Formats: sequence, structure tokens, C-alpha cells
Amino acid sequence: MEDNSVRDTSEPQGDQVEQTSQTQTNAPVKKRGSFTGKIGFVLAAAGSAVGLGNIWRFPYLAAKYGGGIFILTYVVLAVTFGFALMIAEIALGRKTGVSAINAFKKLNKKWAFLGVLCAVIPILILPYYSVIGGWVGKYFFTYLTGGGASAAGDKFFDSFIASPWQSLLFFAIFVTIVFVIVLFGVEKGIEKSSKFLMPALVLLTIGVTIYTLTMPDSWEGVKYYLLPDFKKFSVKTVLGALGQLFYSMSLAMGIMITYGSYMKKENKIESSVHQIEIFDTGIALLAGLMIVPAAFVFSGGNPETLGQGPGLMFVALPKVFETFGPVGGGILGALFFALVLFAALTSAISLMETVISIIMDKFSLSRRKSCVVAYVGTLVLGIFPALGFGVLSKVSISGKTILDMVDFLSNSVLMPIAAFLTCVFIGYVIKCRTITDEIELNGRFAMKKFFNVMIKYVCPIGIAAILITSILDAVGVFAL
Ligand code: TRP
Repeated sequence: MEDNSVRDTSEPQGDQVEQTSQTQTNAPVKKRGSFTGKIGFVLAAAGSAVGLGNIWRFPYLAAKYGGGIFILTYVVLAVTFGFALMIAEIALGRKTGVSAINAFKKLNKKWAFLGVLCAVIPILILPYYSVIGGWVGKYFFTYLTGGGASAAGDKFFDSFIASPWQSLLFFAIFVTIVFVIVLFGVEKGIEKSSKFLMPALVLLTIGVTIYTLTMPDSWEGVKYYLLPDFKKFSVKTVLGALGQLFYSMSLAMGIMITYGSYMKKENKIESSVHQIEIFDTGIALLAGLMIVPAAFVFSGGNPETLGQGPGLMFVALPKVFETFGPVGGGILGALFFALVLFAALTSAISLMETVISIIMDKFSLSRRKSCVVAYVGTLVLGIFPALGFGVLSKVSISGKTILDMVDFLSNSVLMPIAAFLTCVFIGYVIKCRTITDEIELNGRFAMKKFFNVMIKYVCPIGIAAILITSILDAVGVFAL
């Protein structure tokens, strides 16, 4: 199919973009549109970026990788690697006017494979993203039906994820909701609601954080979360932070290229990138400040709780809500999980739209058929991570469940490879000038020198070094 078809389906806003300025989902359109002004662009890109990655994934990684040292590593990577890559992807999209799968091909035929690599990543992410979406759905449902007290029980989370039918059911419901929204193209309504629901989530998070900080032991958690302990630093911290950076900012998977392709030429790329980064990192830091101290209040900083991984949010927060009593806690829990569910849905819609546009483009299927293929494919692929804590819990590599394995494969292997190749492509094939000229179309590029050095040397060498050391580590060539 032509480039046009890709634009038509991966259009992040729709042909009424001139009227609505904030969105984070993609709508089918007849004609190619572009974002209204810079704020529209920033909010749309930040909207896609903010999701479970910020609220669920960042806090548990921070807790697991030693708190402050992880935060420090993450922030340093965000303003260096994250900045350079986001600039590069958005400029690449705006320059070529097409989405990832075609952008690389358009500039150099031999590099078409990189577009394909980028396309594989959202296909891998969507199923397990939906499994976590299902977990959020389960908690929302539990609070709604008055089960808040049981949700705060010690075994609640473990027995839920271990029960095959429950985890499959909530996963399937989540994917079906996403599918129906995408199939009937009702994203516009979702986008409108996100204008007040996302700020509501931020306000509620601030409220819960302040409340948690009045509880005993919480400041121990704040210290753990913010003060770096350099003894805990290792290459794993860097790889974890790098993978999280890509995941959270939707980098190294072509998403920002697509968003860039809808950005107007007169809007400034550089300052937009700063704003998206501040948004995304700010919300992640805030979510961590809510969840990590909560884990300290209830477990006294027990390393097992802190290191438990994907379940952290689901275990720590219900205990905070419980202190409000059955009624208050119930309402608070239902409200909180409803808002998180909403954030998860908007990101999943955007992910499914991406997958659909890839299917349409690669297999020349109609949009409707592609929706069905994406839906069925996601349902089938999601069965494995959904069952990975129960019937399939024996399938694990060095303690990693299936969900952890897919997560590791996409975030810590494929995304760094895609990012590395993107840097090589820009620095040595099309040359940095192609990108910097695009950015300079409307004014000075303040960090141009820094950008060039990052893309040509620091990012590719850094990413390669991190990947190689961690692979050697994984195969036990030398223990770090
Ligand atoms: N960045 C999103 C989050 O933090 C997750 C995500 C990854 C995503 N890739 C995406 C969202 C593509 C939309 C589109 O939750």
C-alpha cells in the first residue's frame, strides 16, 4: 500500500485536528491532518507517553534497583539519550511525513528493515500491557463491589494472578474494550475525557502522596527513593533505566516518528521535546513518590517487598486506602483504579492503532479486518503472560515469569537495538545534518552540538556497551 494508507490509519488526531488540540489516540481519517499548534502536539505526544509505564512500571523498577540511584541514572539518561532520540525520531517523522515503517525506507532503501524492527515492538508490548490493564480492571472491579478490605489482604494479589480464569477474564475484558473502541472509531470521546481525567489522576496521586507522607516510616521510603546509594550501582541499573526510558517515552518503536509526521513545520521541535520529557518524567517521579514510601509504611522497607517487581503498586496502595476505613477507602480505591484504568486504556488504544496500521500496511487488509486480526492476535499472545503466574509459572528463566521475559525482550533487548541502529542510521547514513536542518527550519537549535555528539558517539557506543555487558552477564561470562 501507499504511504498514504499508513498516514490515514496511524493519524494521531484525525481530520478535525484543527478543532481539538489534545489527544492521545489515533483515529481513522480520510485526509491527512496536523496538530493545531505546539501545545496540541506536546499534549498528544505526552498523552501517548503517559500510561502504565509511568504509574506501574517506573515505581517498581525504582524500588527494585535501589531507589535513588535508579532515579539519578534515569534522569541523566532522560536528558541525554532520551532527549537526543526523541528529537531524532520526531524530526525524522516530520521530515518524511510518514510513519516509522516507511520513514527509514524513504530515506534509504537498505534500511527498511529498521522500520520493521520498530514495528515488531508494539506488537510484543500490547498483549502484556493488556494483561496489566486487566489487573487494574480487577482492582477497580473489586473496589467497586465493596471488596476494598480484601484487596488490602496479604494474599489477595498473589492468589488473583495465580488463578488462571481470573487473570484471563480480566485480560480479555480489557482487550475487548480496546478493540471495541478502536473498531467503532470512538476515540474522540475518549480524547475529550482525557482532558480532565488525566489531570484528575495527577491530583489524586498528589493527594495520596501527601497523605502517605504523614504516616510513620514513610520518610525512610522517601530517603530510599531519592538519595542515591552509589554502592547499588551496576550495569543492570543502567540497562533497567534505559529500557524504562524507551518504554515510558514511547521511543525506539517508531511511535514518535508517526507523531512527528503530523507536526506542523512551524512548530519548534526542540522545546516540544523538553516539554514532553518534563511531563512524562514528572508523572513517573510522582507515582514513585506515592508507591515507594507506601511500601515502606507497610513493610518497613522489606527487600522482598521492594524487589517484588510488577505487583508493587497492587500490593502497596490498597493498604494505604484501607486506612481510610471501609467506605472512604472503597471510594478512594475505586476512583484511583478507575483513573489508572483510563490511562492504561488510552495507551493501549494508541498501541492497538499502531499495530493495526502495521497490519494494514504490510498485508493490504482493510481497516476492519486488520482490527480483528490485531484483536485476535493480542488475545492469543496475551494468554501466555496472563497465565505465567499460575499454571505456566514453571516456564521461567532465572526466576523471570513469562511477563517479565517479554518485558525484558522488548524493553531491554529490542528497544536498545532499535535505538542503536537509529543512531547509526542518522549519524552515519543520512548524517546528522538531515535532522538538524529539519529542526532549524524554524529557528535556532540550541543543543545542536550536543545532539550531534550524542547521536554519533555517546548513544551508539553507550547503548552497545550496556547491551554487550548485560548479555555477557546473562550468559555468565563474568559476574558483575
Ligand atoms: N509509554 C507508554 C506508557 O508509559 C507505553 C507505550 C509504549 C505506548 N509504547 C507505546 C503507548 C506506544 C502508546 C503507544 O505506558
